[in-house]
Amino acid sequence: MDELGFNKLFAGVLLAGLLLMAGVKFADILVPHTELAQNAYVIEVPETTDVAGTAPVETGPEPILALLADADPVAGEKLAKKCTACHVFAADGANKVGPALWGVVNTAKGAVDGFSYSAALAGFGGVWDYQSLNGFLAKPKAYISGTKMNFAGLKKPKDRANMIAYLRQQADAAAALPTAEEIAAESAS
Ligand code: HEC
Repeated sequence: MDELGFNKLFAGVLLAGLLLMAGVKFADILVPHTELAQNAYVIEVPETTDVAGTAPVETGPEPILALLADADPVAGEKLAKKCTACHVFAADGANKVGPALWGVVNTAKGAVDGFSYSAALAGFGGVWDYQSLNGFLAKPKAYISGTKMNFAGLKKPKDRANMIAYLRQQADAAAALPTAEEIAAESAS
């Protein structure tokens, strides 16, 4: 091969290389290498570490019984201003937007004479013991879904304890305070 032929061959190889590089670059422009923001196939992984497969237990409001021993009914009476738009707290008090609340602790739910309860509350069952009052007053609509008591709830456990201490006194005879065993059983549950 003469020198010119060799140069042609060399130039051809060089050109082929350049074309190849340009081609790669061009392909890169056409189909850019971008990282995917998320996997193309999203695999749903439940966020529980629950191996037994049981449904997560709905945790109710904080235990109340231990707080009742030191609860302050006078502070509860002040809190009751949040309720008096709808409730009367007095012996022989009248029903207003809500039922009269005299002697409500430990009496049947939805049992005040002459008050027209929601079906949800009327059918709920049980008595207003300390724990159910705690649940209801924390978030009425969460505790009895469908209740017509339009009240957001008392968020602080201490407020609920004080409120319940006041409710307990608004009765002909105050209900017994929880025993040490009941307190221990509640905090263990
Ligand atoms: C906006 C009005 C309103 C406010 C405020 C309100 N309630 Fe009620 N409450 C009601 C109504 C209405 C009912 C009946 C609910 C039903 O039938 O579902 C009720 C029911 C109750 C019951 C159940 C009584 C029973 O006979 O079963 C209790 C206990 C109670 N309220 C306590 C309170 C307390 C304590 C407060 C204040 C912290 C309060 N409520 C604030 C309207 C109200």
